[in-house]
Amino acid sequence: MSTFQRFRESWLRPILFFGNNLLSLIGGALTSASAFVLIGFYLVDAFGHGGSRNPYLGIILGFFLPALFLLGLLLIPLGILARHAALRRAGKIPSVYPRINLADPLFRHGIEVVLLATFVNFVLLGTATYRGVAYMDTKDFCGATCHVMAPEGTAYPVFAHSGVPCVGCHVGSGVGGYIHAKVNGTRQLIDVLRNRYPAPILTNDLLPSASQTCLNCHRADAWIGDKIRISTTFDDDEKNTRTRSLILLHVGGRDLTGKLSGIHGAHLGHIVYISTDTRHQIIHYVAKTEADGSVVEYTDTNLKQARVGVQRAMDCTDCHNRVAHSFDTPEKAVDRSMLAGAISPELPFIHKESIALLKASYGSPEQARTQIAASLKRFYQSNYPDLWQKDQPRIAEAASRLAVLWSQNVFPFMKVTWGTYPNNLGHNDYPGCSRCHDGSHNSASGQSISSDCSVCHNVLTIDDSNRSQLADLGVQ
Ligand code: HEC
Ligand code: HEC
Ligand code: HEC
Ligand code: HEC
Ligand code: HEC
Repeated sequence: MSTFQRFRESWLRPILFFGNNLLSLIGGALTSASAFVLIGFYLVDAFGHGGSRNPYLGIILGFFLPALFLLGLLLIPLGILARHAALRRAGKIPSVYPRINLADPLFRHGIEVVLLATFVNFVLLGTATYRGVAYMDTKDFCGATCHVMAPEGTAYPVFAHSGVPCVGCHVGSGVGGYIHAKVNGTRQLIDVLRNRYPAPILTNDLLPSASQTCLNCHRADAWIGDKIRISTTFDDDEKNTRTRSLILLHVGGRDLTGKLSGIHGAHLGHIVYISTDTRHQIIHYVAKTEADGSVVEYTDTNLKQARVGVQRAMDCTDCHNRVAHSFDTPEKAVDRSMLAGAISPELPFIHKESIALLKASYGSPEQARTQIAASLKRFYQSNYPDLWQKDQPRIAEAASRLAVLWSQNVFPFMKVTWGTYPNNLGHNDYPGCSRCHDGSHNSASGQSISSDCSVCHNVLTIDDSNRSQLADLGVQ
């Protein structure tokens, strides 16, 4: 018997025989139908009309159709196995399978089509899988499709890392990190589909360690040295008095001689801590392992709690927790917009009014837009009618800016509002550094984690106190 004959006798004929069942036929139909739709989409996409900007199309193309396709492909052998089992149970397996009449041109072409379709199907499945996986890594998928991540997706484009895909920080390196993320991600996707996701979302402990993310691009001990930081704030008085503060931050790092110093240098040793809350805002135990291996433990003397809880190794994200998607406080948001002129500091009491308007509650961005505009109009119309007469465009500009600020920071459907996501870098708006550096975290020998201003920064000017210094630096 030739190889082809043997193949025909013991494979092709049985497959065709057992394949003649409803399940396999449905499978074949599903596979072919989704294949044709996919090919259609890919062709349209390749010629630039794919509308692939639309994240929902991405879900259909990346997941739904390939899933149908795969389901169909699985149903075919399942049907074959089921029919085989059923016939065997009934003792009806033929000793000789019905002849395949290759002389019948219709049948021969049928076989050719099946073989060709199988080949095309495998190529297609590979492409679809690749595209699906690649799509899952885009910020469109994470930040736009998945509405529960709207807060992060909205905040993200503004910051230094807007070129870094979400997975750059949310998926650890290597196969382990990838699988971990996909398993977690699938669970989360199911939660979203079942409408049972947490609101607001908190990740902290699901985040891979910085060594697998940040350190792919940054060096932990890079020398940064001192940095000048100017912060501008406006007061709540009629003139919106502007004040500036100037600090020289000692970021440090490893210098030319190899010595570690400053803020970065101080935490490069191994520091672990235990917090009482999932956002790590209340820290009651800290331990630092020094270069010589000795360990100094600090406990919060105000919080008489035993050392219970999960121990976490401090890394970059304990300070830089808002590097990619940062939310403002109403004060910071207004100050920044006033400094940029998007909210004119010339408008009397605009600082005070703006903050009150941002802190009020609105049901949706549209509601915020109309109500903020109406309130601001009412305020100037009744208190400063002359100004309202001649400055309407400026007031309208301020109102629309405020509506934008609100919609970038408040997401009622996710229960995200001002202050939901604290920023740990600093100590003025949130506890930040003071979670540990508050003078009340002490060691057994009475040493405390330092809270002296100058270990972190020298305060050069506070509240415009040193105008000549500001002038020397060319600050207007
Ligand atoms: C440069 C690193 C980085 C990138 C890029 C990044 N994230 Fe994050 N993300 C973080 C860190 C760090 C946290 C932990 C925040 C914390 O603990 O306070 C976080 C937390 C989150 C959380 C939990 C809720 C919250 O805001 O704390 C969500 C959801 C999230 N990120 C979504 C996204 C999405 C969507 C993208 C892409 C559009 C993205 N992230 C890109 C670093 C990043
Ligand atoms: C894929 C590479 C990449 C990853 C991953 C990455 N960064 Fe960055 N980061 C950059 C680049 C590039 C810049 C400079 C951007 C610029 O100057 O516009 C930057 C800037 C920064 C800055 C200074 C600008 C700012 O926003 O304050 C900080 C701080 C920072 N990164 C911290 C982190 C931390 C913490 C992580 C991990 C959670 C991280 N980065 C992950 C590439 C990366
Ligand atoms: C103890 C808190 C803390 C930790 C931990 C920390 N940083 Fe920073 N880092 C700071 C502060 C504070 C600044 C200065 C911020 C500013 O300019 O406002 C800074 C600045 C930076 C900058 C900006 C430098 C520049 O030239 O503008 C980068 C990049 C950075 N850190 C990366 C990292 C990385 C990567 C890690 C983890 C290995 C890390 N940091 C760990 C507190 C920290
Ligand atoms: C989880 C606790 C923790 C947090 C949060 C933390 N630190 Fe520290 N830090 C320590 C410990 C522990 C030490 C070592 C003890 C010491 O030197 O006082 C230290 C040391 C330092 C030192 C060196 C002090 C010295 O006397 O030389 C500086 C500077 C510093 N931290 C700055 C910061 C800044 C800035 C932040 C916030 C962006 C911050 N730290 C957040 C735990 C923390
Ligand atoms: C553990 C370190 C640490 C200590 C101690 C500390 N600061 Fe700061 N401070 C910071 C950091 C980090 C920032 C910068 C935050 C940022 O980049 O936005 C900051 C910012 C500031 C600012 C700028 C205002 C702003 O909103 O950015 C002022 C003013 C200030 N600190 C005053 C003080 C004074 C006064 C003390 C002493 C009573 C003090 N700090 C102690 C770490 C510290």
